Amino acid sequence: MLPHLPAPVRAYILAANAADIDGIVARFTDDAVVQDEGVEHVGVEAIRAWATQSAERYAPHLEVTSWEGGAGEVRVGAIVSGEFEGSPAPIRISFRLRGDRIAWWSASAPSSPRFTVDPHELRGRRALVTGGTRGIGAAIAQRLRSAGAQVLVTARSPREMPGGIEVITADLATRAGVDHVVAEVEAAAGGIDLLVHNVGGSTAPPGGFEALSEEVWQSELDLNLLAAVRLDARLVPAMLQAGSGVVVHVSSIQRQMPLPESTLAYAAAKAALTTYSKGLARQVGPRGVRVVVVSPGGTETAAARAMIERLAAGHGGDLDAARQDLLRTLGGVPLGRFNRPDEVAELVGFLASDRAAAIQGVDYVIDGGNLPTI
Ligand SMILES: NC(=O)c1ccc[n+]([C@@H]2O[C@H](COP(=O)([O-])OP(=O)(O)OC[C@H]3O[C@@H](n4cnc5c(N)ncnc54)[C@H](OP(=O)(O)O)[C@@H]3O)[C@@H](O)[C@H]2O)c1
Repeated sequence: MLPHLPAPVRAYILAANAADIDGIVARFTDDAVVQDEGVEHVGVEAIRAWATQSAERYAPHLEVTSWEGGAGEVRVGAIVSGEFEGSPAPIRISFRLRGDRIAWWSASAPSSPRFTVDPHELRGRRALVTGGTRGIGAAIAQRLRSAGAQVLVTARSPREMPGGIEVITADLATRAGVDHVVAEVEAAAGGIDLLVHNVGGSTAPPGGFEALSEEVWQSELDLNLLAAVRLDARLVPAMLQAGSGVVVHVSSIQRQMPLPESTLAYAAAKAALTTYSKGLARQVGPRGVRVVVVSPGGTETAAARAMIERLAAGHGGDLDAARQDLLRTLGGVPLGRFNRPDEVAELVGFLASDRAAAIQGVDYVIDGGNLPTI
């Protein structure tokens, strides 16, 4: 072990190498976030499950070769060996510390070409990612940041983010929330060059169309359609003036394959978001602004992961069986797995870059083949 490694990081590595699950979990704050293999694990119970599973599956051993950083943020370079293909392999682990505990842990394999990002590609661009503290949005925010962009994210609750990503807290389902975000963006960055509308989701009750009250319809439309429409109305005019900018709307394959039991209003809102995006792209394209849509299928975010862990209880704790069961209820996914958030982020990172300069007004599906038709 290298000398002077900050104490919480040292304690974590000693516990990890001893496969001491309680020791690993004790190093984290109660609300800590672990990002591993593109999947988020949030809070002590999820981190315990992650540590247990990775110890059982890979029996990893870390040998630290370098580290940098200070009291708040520490980046460790290490060689990880264990029961996995390609072992031993280099790994880089980022720790964000709060006091003597770890509030954020994320790992990446610096040698993997799959994750190679040009750190200068988006240098000088100012990006806003709505709903960017968790799940797909957090992965997009980090992908844009690693390409050199200044990144602001929004969420209702504050959350520590790595790498200088700033959080604006606001409820984007309200007009007041949009006003607040616009004011904060102006103060922090003076405008936006890349706008990623990722915020979305459904809180509708089960029970089909009869269970969808007027209020439920309104709140699903507010979050999944009008948040983007309202923010575009405030931020796109400056892009038009500048003659450049990129807007990415995150929709869903449900725009084309609605699930009637509980997410009909969500699916209809996402369909409207896709149609609106096409019209906006046609209008603003001639003035240098690109608008594109990304439609993910099932994606293994921390929330999806927690659901799989709950379902696994009915499969004797077998996570893979629970996952396969869920994939079947979605109509079957030919690739046999969910997306990883960083895979969706990779697509957004490409579309946001100048490499996609000729791509306008289209909707990219990323779903492992889940949609049965083109
Ligand atoms: N995950 C999937 O399987 C999947 C599949 C297809 C499409 N999508 C789409 O992908 C996008 C991201 O989904 P996700 O699963 O990654 O979401 P998620 O894990 O639930 O994260 C949602 C993010 O949005 C924020 N948020 C939620 N409501 C908000 C509000 N009213 N105002 C401001 N921020 C809010 C959350 O923070 P706070 O809670 O602190 O506000 C969080 O940062 C959504 O548009 C979703 O429809 C997801």
